[in-house]
This record gives sequence, structure tokens and C-alpha cells, in this order.
Amino acid sequence: MINFNVNLQGEVAIVTGAGGLGAAIIKGLIRNGAFVIVGDIKLDKIKKEIGEDNFYKDKISFLEIDTSDFYQVTEMINKTIETYGKVDILINTVGILRESSILETSKDEWNKTLHVNLDSVFNLCKGVMLYMVRQKKGKIVNFTSIAGQRGSSLSVHYGSSKAGIIGFTMSLAKEVGCYGINVNAIAPGIIRSDMSKKKITTTTEKYLNQIPLHRFGEPEDVVGMVLLLVSPAGDYITGQIININGGMG
Ligand SMILES: NC(=O)c1ccc[n+]([C@@H]2O[C@H](COP(=O)([O-])OP(=O)(O)OC[C@H]3O[C@@H](n4cnc5c(N)ncnc54)[C@H](O)[C@@H]3O)[C@@H](O)[C@H]2O)c1
Repeated sequence: MINFNVNLQGEVAIVTGAGGLGAAIIKGLIRNGAFVIVGDIKLDKIKKEIGEDNFYKDKISFLEIDTSDFYQVTEMINKTIETYGKVDILINTVGILRESSILETSKDEWNKTLHVNLDSVFNLCKGVMLYMVRQKKGKIVNFTSIAGQRGSSLSVHYGSSKAGIIGFTMSLAKEVGCYGINVNAIAPGIIRSDMSKKKITTTTEKYLNQIPLHRFGEPEDVVGMVLLLVSPAGDYITGQIININGGMG
């Protein structure tokens, strides 16, 4: 656990995606005082990991939702407002990656990847915006990828969705900065999680040689930057795509 402390006492955060990176971020937010509402299509793992832990359980609520579905997201945000009266922070980590060549990628797979990765970000950001505008305050962090910046083989669908998140983030930051809302994105390189497991085990040396720090990232490696961005230390940072990749690329 990396000790990076900020003051998020009383802040209400929505985190979508409770996989490798999402789970580490959720713990970091709670350790620093925030209440967290977690939205994921599969919650068993995160519930087992921290939902039963006395330290975390009073500061977290779970909603099983498909974030690519606009109406399920609207319901989640309505419940958040009913329960907590506000939403200060939104972290979008939901993502899917099924590597395949363009010849093997079906139109359905293309649509699904764009829908889950990019529409989810739209659904959540649109959903919280009214409340953040009224509050004149809000911090949003989206998760893009090095694949959306430099491309990655076997990933035209994934890379396109992640490039879309970059354009979305920079555009939204320009639009809502006047309301005191900061919108940034983090672009990880290769971080250990279920998503990267196959890539890491099948091509370890190839990728390690491209990483100056010569190791894969751990989920905790992204937490400090998320905490900085959502805390007062991040008040003058917006529209940025922040690379966390060990120097890769
Ligand atoms: N791990 C990496 O190496 C890496 C690299 C670059 C970018 N990223 C990005 O970081 C983010 C987090 O990645 P991760 O490694 O934690 O992935 P992960 O696979 O561990 O977690 C993704 C989570 O999203 C959830 N999810 C998938 N589809 C959903 C849907 N329709 N509705 C709700 N939840 C859904 C999954 O259940 C899972 O809990 C992703 O956006 C990913 O693209 C990861």
C-alpha cells in the first residue's frame, strides 16, 4: 500500500469498474475519507475483497449495473443523490479488452467495445454533470490507455475507444471548466490486473524491454495520481492526459 494522503473527508465519489485498478482506487478514496458508490456488472470479487472488511464496509455501497446502459446509470446517479445529496468525484475505470486482429474482429465485437468503453464514460459524465454544475464543483477522472495514444496491435476496437476517451476528456474539460469542474484522464501502460494477465504472461520479455523502469505497473501505482487529481492539490489541473506507464513509449 502506497501512503499518499489527501483530505477527502465528507466527499462522495462514484467509481465505475471494480477490477484491478478500480479496487485499488476505491480503497485509496476510502482511506482518505470519501464515501464510495461502486458500479460494476460483477461485484462478487470486490464485495469479498473489501465489502466484508470492517474498515471499508460503512463507507461503501455497491450497485450491480451495466454502465453502457444509459438508464441503469441514471438510476445509479439518482440513488446516489437520494442517499448522499451530492456527487463530488467520478472515476470511470470500466473497460473491456478482447484482443483480436481486424480480420477476426466482428462488427458486434467492435460495437460492444466502443459501447462499453466509450458510451459508459458519456453516460456517467452526462449523468453527474447537472449536479456538479449546480454545486460549481466536481472532479472527474477517466481511464484511457497507451493504446489510445500510440496504438496497439490486435486492438483496433480497444485503441479506438480509448482514443475516443482522450477527445471526450479534453473537450469536456474545455466546456465545464467555467463551473469549477475538472476533467482529466489517466493513460496507463501495462498494469497487473485481469485485463493485462494474458499479455503479461505470454509476452513478458517483449514488453519489459520497452519499459525503462523495467517492471509492469501495480494497481497501487495509479492511486496516488487519482488522489492528487481529485483533491484540492488538483484544483488547477484539467484537460490533461496523464501517463502512468514506467516510461513506456
Ligand atoms: N490493466 C492495464 O494494463 C491497463 C492498461 C491501460 C488501460 N487500462 C484501463 O484501465 C481501466 C481499468 O482496467 P483494469 O486493469 O482494472 O481492468 P479489469 O478488467 O481488472 O476491470 C474492469 C472492470 O470493469 C467491469 N466491467 C466490464 N464491463 C462492464 C460493464 N458493461 N458495466 C459495468 N462494469 C463493467 C468488469 O467487471 C471489471 O470489474 C480500464 O478502462 C482499462 O482499459 C488498463
